[in-house]
Amino acid sequence: MAGSVWRSMLSQVVVGAVRRPAVSAASFTRGMQTVTLIPGDGIGPEISSAVMKIFEAAKAPIRWEERNVTAIKGPGGRWMIPPDAKESMDRSKIGLKGPLKTPIAAGHPSMNLLLRKTFDLYANVRPCVSIEGYKTPYTDVNLVTIRENTEGEYSGIEHVIVDGVVQSIKLITEDASRRIAEYAFEYARNNQRTSVTAVHKANIMRMSDGLFLRKCREVAENYKDIKFTEMYLDTVCLNMVQDPTQFDVLVMPNLYGDILSDLCAGLIGGLGVTPSGNIGANGVAIFESVHGTAPDIAGLDMANPTALLLSAVMMLRHMGLHDYGNKIQTACFDTIRDKKVLTKDLGGNSKCSEFTAEICRRIQDMA
Ligand SMILES: NC(=O)c1ccc[n+]([C@@H]2O[C@H](COP(=O)([O-])OP(=O)(O)OC[C@H]3O[C@@H](n4cnc5c(N)ncnc54)[C@H](O)[C@@H]3O)[C@@H](O)[C@H]2O)c1
Repeated sequence: MAGSVWRSMLSQVVVGAVRRPAVSAASFTRGMQTVTLIPGDGIGPEISSAVMKIFEAAKAPIRWEERNVTAIKGPGGRWMIPPDAKESMDRSKIGLKGPLKTPIAAGHPSMNLLLRKTFDLYANVRPCVSIEGYKTPYTDVNLVTIRENTEGEYSGIEHVIVDGVVQSIKLITEDASRRIAEYAFEYARNNQRTSVTAVHKANIMRMSDGLFLRKCREVAENYKDIKFTEMYLDTVCLNMVQDPTQFDVLVMPNLYGDILSDLCAGLIGGLGVTPSGNIGANGVAIFESVHGTAPDIAGLDMANPTALLLSAVMMLRHMGLHDYGNKIQTACFDTIRDKKVLTKDLGGNSKCSEFTAEICRRIQDMA
């Protein structure tokens, strides 16, 4: 059951932005398509390599254009991503990204933040659906978090007022709030979802969250077919761990989305199995695993590639390559359900390479 829910959810994940179509489906239907691959740091190269092997086994018509992303200083001292990575993304419009390390006090902004800003990746979409055969304290979780990805507490505006006193600005704009609310409602409508919950703290942050909430309410007026509710973040957290099945689509500002989407990932088994898509304003979409670089297991062949693989499945469907996506996803879920070849984080003893080989074998058996 869970498998079929995943299938329909991941297949529709980017349909929310109907007024901002990513790339014409026709451009994806002929021959090989180029995808910018950002392997990332830590376990990034291992799980990227696993995804590439599985895509090869499935004969997915993808040509990978590999690019490293590190912070470089551009004209005027502004931090930017390397021009060859930007140029590749501008051309391909589609990216698959592994985790990027964010050294504290590195002197440059987070690379993830820089990528989001560079491509105006305004919506982070994370479907969280229980995986059949992978036991967690919760069953039948089936929700989607939609996080505003460009502003809020992560605007990166921080300064020292006087020694020992720093200030961080939470920036909320009308345009970004309306845009994410519209995305959430369009997503709900296009994915046969019934409700959207706006998550906020407008009781405390009356102006900033107040503006966000007002825009959600206004947008809700245009979507009478979708039930709209609003809920305080703390109430959502309490209710979420008591009974996650009461939630459907949740839309929220950046910081709340960062935290709540990880909490929801925990309900279905953790970051190692949670995919995500970042939808941009100019037809760009970057799909990524949401876990970090896992420095403790990097290079040890212990990483679980599922999150990046499921993100890549989202990507395939975004590109109209549904058959390939279905095949890969089925092989992945069947492997997990069978419990014979699992990585350590999933409760098994197998290496990343063994788990990958098992998925490849199942794909080849389907042919
Ligand atoms: N999207 C991103 O690029 C992203 C997200 C979060 C953290 N980071 C960065 O990653 C670095 C490390 O962060 P962290 O240690 O807080 O979080 P982490 O997600 O890297 O690790 C947390 C724990 O989860 C395990 N884990 C994570 N992914 C796994 C996988 N695929 N398979 C098996 N186990 C996995 C790790 O081994 C570790 O024990 C930091 O530099 C951080 O800034 C990047």
